[in-house]
Amino acid sequence: MSGHGTPVPMTSRACGPLTGVAEVPGDKSISHRSLILGAMCVGETRITGLLEGDDVLDTAKAMRAFGATVTDHGGGEWSVQGVGVGGFAEPAGVIDCGNSGTGVRLIMGAMATTGITAIFTGDASLCSRPMGRVTDPLALFGTRAVGREGGRLPMTLVGAADPVPVRYVVPVPSAQVKSAVLLAGLNAPGQTVVIEKEATRDHTERMLAGFGAEIDVEDTDEGRVITLQGQPELQPQQIAVPRDPSSAAFPVCAALIVPGSDVLVPGIGLNPTRAGLFTTLREMGADLTYENERIEGGEPVADLRARYSPDMKGISVPPARAASMIDEYPVLSVVACFATGVTDMQGVRELRVKESDRIDAMAKGLRAAGIDVAEGDDWWQVTGLGAGNVPGGATVESRLDHRIAMAFMVMGMASQKPMSVDDGSPITTSFPIFEPLMAQLGAQVSRANG
Ligand code: S3P
Repeated sequence: MSGHGTPVPMTSRACGPLTGVAEVPGDKSISHRSLILGAMCVGETRITGLLEGDDVLDTAKAMRAFGATVTDHGGGEWSVQGVGVGGFAEPAGVIDCGNSGTGVRLIMGAMATTGITAIFTGDASLCSRPMGRVTDPLALFGTRAVGREGGRLPMTLVGAADPVPVRYVVPVPSAQVKSAVLLAGLNAPGQTVVIEKEATRDHTERMLAGFGAEIDVEDTDEGRVITLQGQPELQPQQIAVPRDPSSAAFPVCAALIVPGSDVLVPGIGLNPTRAGLFTTLREMGADLTYENERIEGGEPVADLRARYSPDMKGISVPPARAASMIDEYPVLSVVACFATGVTDMQGVRELRVKESDRIDAMAKGLRAAGIDVAEGDDWWQVTGLGAGNVPGGATVESRLDHRIAMAFMVMGMASQKPMSVDDGSPITTSFPIFEPLMAQLGAQVSRANG
């Protein structure tokens, strides 16, 4: 199990208006996939705008361990010299994916149908997360997994030397599971079919098509049916990673709750499988506009403009929207405190198996900050007190979860008393420039306790 360094307590306090331009880093999901798919081509893939957060850097290390040459050219420019589909070499050491569920699950898929063995581990958060959701479908290809009780890391995966193609109905709404099966299907002969009942982020499908795989996606009564032809020769690509909507969520939400704010967050991917938060905020009455809407690299992109919105109202978030904003519920629940009335979030069981149990982590922290929260297994409700009325004044455990830490830092920017987290260090997994970027907008986040 890998560890984290010394905890970094952080405190955020009420500040003047947030203003200016917030250039958030590259998309985490697309960054992982760029490195992994680059490693599965013969030839050089060039990547600009790669997220240089710990999660993605761990995936870069892993791709090197499997035999790819991954080079950092500086300024977000990277290249990958791949080894081809089925070309992974057996790693000499343990593959440590740190905090990253996406990293470990996608890499497991990518090596599962090659005749090699690899041992995976991660930090305490990752070692507590379920891997059976990935190793169960990988077993259908012929892959064997031996892990700790309950299908937890550390875990050894023995790849299938003679994989068979698979037809798999994904039982939970998870892009990581879908992607692991598709990446495994790349090195199986014939057609691998993945069916998802609820659409989840579709970056793997889009990028596989971009890399030259034969992949077909059809919406049917059964759900989205994805058919992949195995053993293609993937073609190296030039990838410009768009900025991450999940990171944009933090400056956007901060601007909505801090009086007088007006923030522009340029170049944000608005792929419908990712943009649910922004739709929800607009339904709540947020002054959030899309400027300069365009298509870049086949994805819808816009500059987001968020202005202080003192009249937001709580709403019921449709469960069908959950997958498209699954990482954004923590910060949405903070915005909900500054709206009036109840914000009802249903159909969100998956939040309990993220980097932390996010319903529990947020509910405890919000209650400590004076907010009424009700919760059940797959739902929670936050009763807002309205702009200016949120007490704050609590220290919250971030539980090795970057989004919990950032959500409470956003809360402290507009609550009556400051908010602290015991450890802000996990923020570097996805948003390494969070502190300077928020400071440049006018936020007061300090490395201090209380
Ligand atoms: C991701 C999928 C989601 C999301 C994670 C990134 C991906 O996880 O929470 O941050 O890149 O595929 P699940 O697949 O577990 O829903």
